[in-house]
Amino acid sequence: MTIDPMSPVPKYSQLREILLDWIEDSGLAVDDAIPSERELGVRYGLSRMTVRQTIDHLVAEGKLYRVPGKGTFVARPKIEMSLRLASFTEDMRARGFVPGSRDLARRVDPASGHLARLFGVQPGAPVHHIERLRTADGEPMAIERSNIPVAVAPGLAGRPLAGRSLYELLEEEYGVLLDSGEQTIEAGLCDPADARLLGLPPGSAVLLLQRRSFAAGACVEVAISTYRADRYQLRSTLEPLR
Ligand code: GLP
Repeated sequence: MTIDPMSPVPKYSQLREILLDWIEDSGLAVDDAIPSERELGVRYGLSRMTVRQTIDHLVAEGKLYRVPGKGTFVARPKIEMSLRLASFTEDMRARGFVPGSRDLARRVDPASGHLARLFGVQPGAPVHHIERLRTADGEPMAIERSNIPVAVAPGLAGRPLAGRSLYELLEEEYGVLLDSGEQTIEAGLCDPADARLLGLPPGSAVLLLQRRSFAAGACVEVAISTYRADRYQLRSTLEPLR
């Protein structure tokens, strides 16, 4: 493919298509270097500024990444976030990753008015608060902060969770089988402490998930999760509105 100077499509967009073709179709593998900005400029008869503009966009989209002093490389494809009532463990296993988790905090808190309303318990009722760093093949992916009423899972505080699925434990040890849920997903910026845990620069973009999970009509988990936006994307199938 070449750049068509007569085309109404801006040159940086034409270069974008060329580079995406390389990345997606021409066998460029993850972590392969792409030619330097100077080489691309010479090859396609483009100014260095135009080339940089295209590469900046592809870096911002997460298709390429730069290593200062080394060059620009093909990034790993993002993981498609599951939009089903799946546990992190199930979801990662289904994608061929080894799921992991590290406890960051475990406490029993008195339910705030807000949590009490969501769970349908009295304010002040004890609620497990569990914060975990979730990993895939050892790489930090998300921080999950789950709240579960103690009445749902008494004794959960004493159970080790490292490397174990919370949903599996709820099912196997407490007979709690999650059967529905609702979730919101919104863009956010990572605070410095979470960024450190996730290995991201502070202020990086993240996806914030708020999930309520139910078993037999009762809300059993309210969770707020922070997922790396550089590693996750959402995909949905679209049906006509009418
Ligand atoms: C998802 C949900 C969390 C839930 C977790 C359980 O990631 N967003 O709200 O706590 O799954 O995962 P696991 O069973 O692997 O601990």
